[in-house]
Amino acid sequence: MKLSVPRRVPAVAVFALAGLLATAAPAASADPADVRPAPVSALAAPDIPLANVKAHLDRFQSIAGSNGGNRAHGRPGYKASIDYVKAQLDAAGFTTSVQQFTYNGTTGYNLTADWPGGDVNQTVMAGAHLDSVSSGAGINDNGSGSAAVLEAALAVSRAQLQPTKHLRFGWWGAEELGLVGSRYYVNNLSGTERSRIAGYLNFDMIGSPNPGYFVYDDDPVIEQTFKGYFAGLGVPTEIETEGDGRSDHASFKNVGIPVGGLFTGASRTKTSAQAQKWGGTAGQAFDRCYHSSCDTTANINDTALDRNSDAIAHAIWTLSAGDTTEPPGDVYENTTDVAVPDAGAAVTSTVTVSGRSGNAPAALKVGVDIKHTWRGDLVVDLVAPDGTAYRLKSSSGSDSADNVIATYTVDASAETANGAWKLRVQDVARYDTGYIDSWKLTF
Ligand code: TRP
Ligand code: ZN
Ligand code: CA
Repeated sequence: MKLSVPRRVPAVAVFALAGLLATAAPAASADPADVRPAPVSALAAPDIPLANVKAHLDRFQSIAGSNGGNRAHGRPGYKASIDYVKAQLDAAGFTTSVQQFTYNGTTGYNLTADWPGGDVNQTVMAGAHLDSVSSGAGINDNGSGSAAVLEAALAVSRAQLQPTKHLRFGWWGAEELGLVGSRYYVNNLSGTERSRIAGYLNFDMIGSPNPGYFVYDDDPVIEQTFKGYFAGLGVPTEIETEGDGRSDHASFKNVGIPVGGLFTGASRTKTSAQAQKWGGTAGQAFDRCYHSSCDTTANINDTALDRNSDAIAHAIWTLSAGDTTEPPGDVYENTTDVAVPDAGAAVTSTVTVSGRSGNAPAALKVGVDIKHTWRGDLVVDLVAPDGTAYRLKSSSGSDSADNVIATYTVDASAETANGAWKLRVQDVARYDTGYIDSWKLTF
């Protein structure tokens, strides 16, 4: 903010004074305590613990065991499954909602869980059907997708993720009776609500005991996100062809919402070519217990469940992050205020970088936030750990604006990344004053 008192020295004096101070003895540093080298943004998805996903499967198995052997629509094992998933999400800070519908004369339930924050006009959804057929516990179909989506949601909470887009998770009822729950959910959305869903990711059977790695061939961005993840693992994928439209993504796709998903195979037979690239048994179904009583916790391939769970987290993190044209980078920041004395000695604020290898980037971003009532007074340098100074801003007698809030790009490729980097600020002309509010380096 400008003061109302007159207080400018002629520009020539400014430069004379600046020159004088430049040759003065090295300024005493007013360093605050170093901030720890904490990267503020580390936006890679976490590894989803397989043990956590399997613990949810154990619960689904025992829920079936104490409810007549299944978790089917209209049976008590279904509602018990809803209650279990909902309790986990409520405890993790989600806003949950149970939607009731009636089918075949019995009540069905959909569960949705919204993670607070993000742009609701760009909502990314991930979901799975929670019902089993009546002949068994439905652990691969579809405890696997339900448990993995649940664990991915819980990972969002553990990370306290703050995505650009809004995240919503869904567990659908009565899929096995013809995608009933998901269709009911979609039909009850207004046009506006539908248009807010940027994409729906579906997971139905992702731990088949003789697994294939199938990616839905639908929205190209979603498809590529999954394919890229598996390529990074060195695991080949194929396009899903065992019945397009046979799961809940069809309900979303039918109203124009972009969809994608993963699948490890149902009753179709694994070919020898597929066994060659994925292992397992050629000439045998991907899931020999599909829709039968042997679809228990013994009917799961751990490696497939683990990879697919991690792929789900990867897709959720990636697709909700927003504009990814520029990688986020690691941010090192010092937010301690440092007063800049009027027409005085230079002061510095330090950011300590550690744990990196090699040199700093050729386009090192230096984010500067200096509050000052006449920015022309200020000379600002970035000082590398070895003492090399990079001028970010010179003084100017005519630059009367407030503050220096800017991101400078410095070719720091000649500097070792690790060490104590300093922002050096000197006020070279009288009257106006200010302070370093914060500054940061983005590697
Ligand atoms: N639950 C689905 C069903 O009973 C399983 C399934 C078969 C599936 N083919 C699929 C799921 C293709 C996803 C994609 O039909
Ligand atoms: Zn299913
Ligand atoms: Ca001044």
